[in-house]
Amino acid sequence: MSRPGVVSRAGGIRYTFPAVHLNRWTWLPSAIAFTALVGAIVFSASHASARERGQDAAATAPASDDESVRLFNRMCSECHDSKRIVARRRTSSEWETTLKDMITEGAEGTEKEFVAVFNYLVRTYGKVFINTAPATEIRAVLGVTPAQADAIVAYRKENGPFADAEAVKKVPGLDLKKIDELAEALAF
Ligand code: HEC
Repeated sequence: MSRPGVVSRAGGIRYTFPAVHLNRWTWLPSAIAFTALVGAIVFSASHASARERGQDAAATAPASDDESVRLFNRMCSECHDSKRIVARRRTSSEWETTLKDMITEGAEGTEKEFVAVFNYLVRTYGKVFINTAPATEIRAVLGVTPAQADAIVAYRKENGPFADAEAVKKVPGLDLKKIDELAEALAF
């Protein structure tokens, strides 16, 4: 979260999903079309305003859980039941795609609000392919410390892919209770 990822630039409009940077190369081409599409609705205000541009850091600061839940309820339950949204966990890139689709469907919000909802969905209803995901993504989905995420990556490098959650628990330094709680967020 401390290192915002700029995912596209088109016509001076920027769109960022900062917490997890997944696959820059598959995301970029569609992001350009996406940005062009939603730019007018979502970003025209911030685009025009230098003051707003100066607030990039604030725009990417993590929102509190309460605030995120409020945003989520406001932005995501107008057209369908929000329960349906979180019926299953999704990977970060799936959440990214979902939000892009919803903007196409007409969901509205500022960049900051979409980023907050994205981060909330990733950390609350995220799923991570633990054998291939980079440390930043593991961190965002599981809420582990940077050191713990690095330990997971180092361990799998040395020992090969994890077979299941029990195997993940062998990584030194993890909070095992947390891994149990998050077992459903792990994909292999
Ligand atoms: C303007 C209306 C609208 C708003 C607001 C909206 N959605 Fe949707 N959403 C739709 C429509 C329409 C569909 C059905 C599209 C389809 O699946 O064909 C849908 C479907 C979905 C699905 C199911 C997709 C799937 O894979 O089955 C998810 C998840 C979802 N929305 C998430 C969200 C989230 C998160 C938000 C808040 C950012 C949101 N929606 C806000 C219109 C909206």
